[in-house]
Amino acid sequence: MSRVRAILLAAGKGTRMKSERPKVLHEVCGRPMLWYVLRALQGAGIEDILVVTSDELDPHVASLGVRSVVQAQQLGTGHAVQVALSALETLAGGRILIASGDMPLVPAELFARVLERLDDRTASPALAFATARMPLPSNFGRVLRRGNALERIVEVRDASADELAVDEMNAAIYAFDEERLRDAVAHLQCDNAQGEYYLTDTVKHLTQSGQRVTPVLCDDYLQVLGINDRVELAIARRKMNERLCAQHMRDGVTIIDPVTTYLEPELVIGQDTIIYPNTSIGRLSQIGKSSTIGPNARLSMAKLGDRVTVRDSVIVESMVGSDVTIGPFAHLRGNTCLADGVSIGNFVEVKKSQLARGVKASHLTYLGDATIGENTNVGAGTITCNYDGTQKHPTTIGRDAFIGSNSALVAPVTIGDGALVGAGAVVTKDVAAGDRVVGNPARSIGR
Ligand code: UD1
Ligand code: CA
Repeated sequence: MSRVRAILLAAGKGTRMKSERPKVLHEVCGRPMLWYVLRALQGAGIEDILVVTSDELDPHVASLGVRSVVQAQQLGTGHAVQVALSALETLAGGRILIASGDMPLVPAELFARVLERLDDRTASPALAFATARMPLPSNFGRVLRRGNALERIVEVRDASADELAVDEMNAAIYAFDEERLRDAVAHLQCDNAQGEYYLTDTVKHLTQSGQRVTPVLCDDYLQVLGINDRVELAIARRKMNERLCAQHMRDGVTIIDPVTTYLEPELVIGQDTIIYPNTSIGRLSQIGKSSTIGPNARLSMAKLGDRVTVRDSVIVESMVGSDVTIGPFAHLRGNTCLADGVSIGNFVEVKKSQLARGVKASHLTYLGDATIGENTNVGAGTITCNYDGTQKHPTTIGRDAFIGSNSALVAPVTIGDGALVGAGAVVTKDVAAGDRVVGNPARSIGR
């Protein structure tokens, strides 16, 4: 069996999105639509993929690790395939799978199934393509038969009322015998309502010349939903999110309300973790076992250990150990790193700081550019004054220190192990280990 190559159509203007951004780059659960289709193709074992792009889309495709060819003028899906074929070397006995970049819900199995039907030795079809039954009205091309035999596909704008009543649709996933594809696209005309070269007209060409075309019915039309506007984009997002939640629930995660839990692909969530409503988890976040996340949590590029509690809080680009509690109403960001057993409470913001094991900052605190040693207690209302108007400066606090309520630590400043800062102090100079300071500016009152 010869190798399969794929052509992914993605050059269309996507006018109905009403957007500056190329359609296939619009995101569904945190990934561009195109990303999902590429992943499904790879899941079906197809590595050799050529994406047909527009000038605007082309610069974005290289980062997805696939080849592309620009279709400078979008003259229709048939024209897009002509452009792709002229960029692909001719392979005797080759097979070409064609799909669109705007169907993010497509599963790898469907690609595999359509290819399998092309390989049917007895029928030896020139083309196998996916179809789906769909509620009417629909904008999909209709699959027309004469008696039992497949005849052609008609686009909605060219269809008669009788043809529009047909509910078997062209899903726009095609597996072609390469030689016969090259021949069929060379014969395309643009004598239709849109004045475009339709790839779908290859069906008529093939059936009229006595070649076999095999429809492959897919049983869930949502799998092949082509996204053309933002209403359909929202439908795809909801469906994809349902799938992502279901997958994690099957893997042992409790999701109280999947409808208000917003996930992305490629997350790691450990067994017996419970996710409460109104929570979004994205950008390659990882959560350990037996943790409690939400309600009202947002995690992005967050890595959490086991038995972590996060309530009503935001964690962005940060790492958290095990047995940590965060929130309610806390904000961790900028490569913050919390060791095991840390406790971050109400209205606490931690930016680009390292907190060692057992540190507590329970109320109304800002810690920025700080390094804090084991078991230190940061009192309510403590602020690291890390910004002097032009530059950021570090604050270093040792282990077992006690920072009294409402202290201002003016950076750069170092507070030694076991030191005590009295409530309301304004610390402008370093404090030695074991020393006690009070007042504004803070002065030593001895050990
Ligand atoms: C197409 C099919 C229709 C099918 C539907 C399923 C044709 C003529 N019609 O219609 O039968 O039911 O998909 O979703 O093929 N594209 C290009 N270059 C172009 C035009 C389009 O690359 O010149 C790309 C688009 O970016 C898109 C795909 O081809 O990814 C399909 O184009 P679109 O305009 O969305 O076709 P539909 O009208 O949805
Ligand atoms: Ca479409």
